[in-house]
Amino acid sequence: MNKISRLVVLMLLLVCLGVLQQEEENVGRAGATILGVNWGTVAFNPLPNSIVVKMLQANNITKVKLFDANPQVIKSMAGTNIEVMVAATNDELASLASSPAAAAAWVQENVTQYIGGNGVNIKWVAVGNEPFLNGYNGMFQNVALPALQNVQKALAQAGHASDIKATIPCNADVLSSPPPYLPSQTTFRPDISSLMIQISQFLASTGAPFMVNFYPFLSLVLSTNFPLAFAFFNGSANSITDGPHVYTNVFDASYDGLVTALTNSGFPTMPIIVGEIGWPTDGVANANLQFAQSFMSELVKHMLSGTGTPLRPGVLDGYLFSLLDEDAKSILPGPFERHWGIFNYDGSLKYTLDLTGGTNGGTSTNLISATNVPYLPTQWCVVNQNADLTQLQANVDYACNHGDCTASFPGGSCSTLTVQANASYAFNNYYQFTDQASGTCNFQGLAKVTTTNPTTGTCQFLIGLQPTAVLSSSTSDPKPHHASTAVASRSATSVCILFVSSAAIVVGSWILQF
Ligand SMILES: *[C@@H]1O[C@H](CO)[C@@H](O)[C@H](O)[C@H]1NC(C)=O
Ligand SMILES: *[C@@H]1O[C@H](CO)[C@@H](O)[C@H](O)[C@H]1NC(C)=O
Ligand SMILES: *[C@@H]1O[C@H](CO)[C@@H](O)[C@H](O)[C@H]1NC(C)=O
Ligand SMILES: *[C@@H]1O[C@H](CO)[C@@H](O)[C@H](O)[C@H]1NC(C)=O
Repeated sequence: MNKISRLVVLMLLLVCLGVLQQEEENVGRAGATILGVNWGTVAFNPLPNSIVVKMLQANNITKVKLFDANPQVIKSMAGTNIEVMVAATNDELASLASSPAAAAAWVQENVTQYIGGNGVNIKWVAVGNEPFLNGYNGMFQNVALPALQNVQKALAQAGHASDIKATIPCNADVLSSPPPYLPSQTTFRPDISSLMIQISQFLASTGAPFMVNFYPFLSLVLSTNFPLAFAFFNGSANSITDGPHVYTNVFDASYDGLVTALTNSGFPTMPIIVGEIGWPTDGVANANLQFAQSFMSELVKHMLSGTGTPLRPGVLDGYLFSLLDEDAKSILPGPFERHWGIFNYDGSLKYTLDLTGGTNGGTSTNLISATNVPYLPTQWCVVNQNADLTQLQANVDYACNHGDCTASFPGGSCSTLTVQANASYAFNNYYQFTDQASGTCNFQGLAKVTTTNPTTGTCQFLIGLQPTAVLSSSTSDPKPHHASTAVASRSATSVCILFVSSAAIVVGSWILQF
């Protein structure tokens, strides 16, 4: 790889790390670490929690990371022994920082009440989500550490000190490196380096790990120079030599940048947990099933193999991003943002994946789809062939503005449809998102309901899930937290991208100077 692409590679890599929290001595422990998953719930009609939990159990997934502290989601894991990370959002940091009493109340309501007996196995509290992101302009810089301290203190006062650890999930932009951006030259970002050292000190004092998010996929999105193979784990043709170490993939290079920063700050053995890592399957080129399957299966094998990275041999711990597609997420970061799931929105399989990474005595196990999924009736909304189609585009735009047309974007699974099929796709998504309500498959007479599946090629015409509210009343589930969830559980991904965009500008100007 030439100097420029090397630079681009490392810049983008190092850009997208985050800090979170790690499990007690998982790294380096003999045998396999079972990887966890991020469970986000920003969907129009999310798969019911009880079905998600059964799916987790069927797949032997024993660790879950949340983006907030939604009571219905947390309660759904009671009695399962699934290890849970609950989260305080960035918006809660100021209050948690200013008042030990607020932190104590938070811990009581969002941790303690679920613990004990046949309760929830809460092991971690994420205090904020990537609060030091450049894009936040320092907004959370003064509150994150005091919030972390208050939450940890409250956990201790409630008697959880030895069982539950708090940490601050950070983006990779807490790291920085001078050209040529080698892992061995990486430090904490100068403007927050003393803060990061204080945080590391605090994490070390409580036995909490450092958590970091990696997004090799975004490197590809942002730079056409990024060598495709280096994003995967078979990219030895694009290796980077850094002193005695040779890096054949962006994951190891990013990981060791963090190891270097921690080591040079006095924390050479601080455990690291990867908070988010994944590959989306739709919405843009490179977000497809083949790449996602290749990346995820190689990643899982790599993390569990015990090979580790050049600076951290051993089993690597982390949480896949993510469990399910979330069709109501903001697409500001890109149309792929709703397609990060290793499962579809309905818990159906996207691709085969062995989460044991071949460490299960050679027995290969593949993911299993959710069962008893509460679909709406088996019917779709499509363009009425006999209609006057001059008003088609305006109606498609309306449907897309209120539904999800990300699969129609260039490179997406529905991007090569005819104009009419494309319109049908948009109409159907809107129809499903409105719970197939009567009158929502009309579009000025352009549309009609059909029971013939319009799915063509790679483009899946979906059937929606029954609304949470309907299911709740029939199963006497507590009241749904639909809207509030959508606001609260913003994934780190979008934030990560904000940062990457600003880094891309830097990379661009660097290339110009070169
Ligand atoms: C889950 O674990 C059980 C028991 O070890 C095993 O039989 C089964 O194949 C596993 N299933 C998956 C999907 O990994
Ligand atoms: C518990 O967490 C929820 C959701 O994140 C939040 O809205 C609520 O304010 C928290 N409780 C306390 C007492 O802070
Ligand atoms: C390397 O990964 C790419 C991307 O998934 C894949 O297309 C290719 O077949 C892989 N090559 C090898 C030798 O495994
Ligand atoms: C399909 O619809 C989307 C959303 O309106 C639009 O961006 C795209 O250009 C359309 N494609 C075709 C082939 O009509």
